[in-house]
Amino acid sequence: MNFKIKTDNLFKLKSECIVVGIYRKSEKEKGAELTASAARMNKASSEQIHQIVACGDIDGNIGSSLLLYDIRGISAKRILIVGLGVQREATAQGFRKAVMAAVKVLVDRNLASADMAILDDVRDEDRVNYARQIAEAVHQATYRYWETKSGDRPAMPLAKIGVVVDRKYRDVTQKGIDQGMAVANALSYTKTLANLPGNICTPTYLADRARELAKSHGLKVSVLDEKDMEKLKMGSLLSVSRGSVEPAKLIVMEYTGTEKDKNPVVLIGKGLTFDAGGISIKPASAMDEMKYDMCGGASVFGAMIAASEMDLPLNIIGIVPSSENLPDGAANKPGDIVTSMLGKTIEILNTDAEGRLILCDAMTYAQRYKPEVVVDIATLTGACIIALGHHASGLFSNSDELANELLVAGETVDDRAWRLPVWESYTKQLKSNFADLANIGGRSAGAVTAACFLQEFAKDFSWAHLDVAGTAWSSGSPKGATGRPVPLLVEFLIRRSEAGQEKGQSQEIG
Ligand code: BES
Ligand code: MN
Ligand code: ZN
Repeated sequence: MNFKIKTDNLFKLKSECIVVGIYRKSEKEKGAELTASAARMNKASSEQIHQIVACGDIDGNIGSSLLLYDIRGISAKRILIVGLGVQREATAQGFRKAVMAAVKVLVDRNLASADMAILDDVRDEDRVNYARQIAEAVHQATYRYWETKSGDRPAMPLAKIGVVVDRKYRDVTQKGIDQGMAVANALSYTKTLANLPGNICTPTYLADRARELAKSHGLKVSVLDEKDMEKLKMGSLLSVSRGSVEPAKLIVMEYTGTEKDKNPVVLIGKGLTFDAGGISIKPASAMDEMKYDMCGGASVFGAMIAASEMDLPLNIIGIVPSSENLPDGAANKPGDIVTSMLGKTIEILNTDAEGRLILCDAMTYAQRYKPEVVVDIATLTGACIIALGHHASGLFSNSDELANELLVAGETVDDRAWRLPVWESYTKQLKSNFADLANIGGRSAGAVTAACFLQEFAKDFSWAHLDVAGTAWSSGSPKGATGRPVPLLVEFLIRRSEAGQEKGQSQEIG
């Protein structure tokens, strides 16, 4: 994927295809209106474009499209007209949908290159995000998993994209494209890690990938093995991995983008490389999908990649506790009691509620970094899918401020989360007669009680938890990892780094 900002005259541009937008007149009125770029092309074509649109084959609705050939007075081979919806109601989500539709047409036609002239009339404050959405949409439409298929990887469609803008918007567009490319690289990496099968993508494999990132992305990486974790008394995490021959790893990736003494954002991602449920074994149907139980961890890898490619002025620690959850003679049994690194004892009433058991020790480990905030990301509960479906990630937090930051970030880049409560009354469902805490809280509010369990280990810092069980992959066709919530996390980090810089500047002035 290669992007180039162009400021050429649209009708003189030699191109395989130029994409231009049209609007729908209004919600009530049918019919389309030309955007500035479409109007320019229309003039050069002596009104031919207007005539075609007036036929009514395209209405300007978001994502509608019409491919044209042989237009008079235009150097490009093709023009793709794409509907952007009603102009007054334009949103980043709608724009992204339209771009996705346009890119799909180009990819279906197997075009190697195209130019997009669809950034007309964008509000100044939206320019970076809209340009970013173009790069993300192209990634979305062109990502192919090929790692475990035989034969050569097929050539990437649409390898070259031009983004045509007025000269005065060159820099702001470039900024958005750069961000979008960083997110796209992160999404690719995250999806591929997640799509890899459990027999390849083991905790050791993840640790090796992290060590590679140390070299390629200048991260500081350390990997704790089971002996190190024993010394730290991570009895809860280690208990999950006891039923598996693959040794558990605690992967720590450090990105330093500002003064070393600035407290970091800590991201913790569940890295269960395969979750069979343990002795409380899962039913066989769709169990293969539990290779995705490391999607939270994979999104932390992605966020670290994007942050370093964007040189964000922020310190970030990514922690990925990684293990398998399998049944065998040494595995956790229902009723077993383990002691977490924090000292709290946990009665394991269901060995399939293992995510919280590995995350809680990672959260305690995070304390040594004196985090500004901790955000954990986990495919934690089937109950979250029942509550929110596949549209929103579940968000839980002990801080309204942090929760709102994450909600706004997700809203901005169309990778949304929805907040659910973590009240004391729910935590009571985790009472145990034999330990400080049980690892399950009964059938009701399963996503909430899982979050309440984690909250018990977040006493000294602002913490938020994203349950991505419903959003990190799609089961239907096309089956595969979605890369969520990488876009949300990256937007959250960008916003934090910008807020930090403003604070720094005003402090200097004051
Ligand atoms: N990894 C699963 C959660 C999950 C289930 C994600 C289905 C995506 C789809 C997690 O480890 C798990 O098994 N959770 C249990 C918890 C229960 C035993 C309290 C669940 O959701 O059934
Ligand atoms: Mn489980
Ligand atoms: Zn799991």
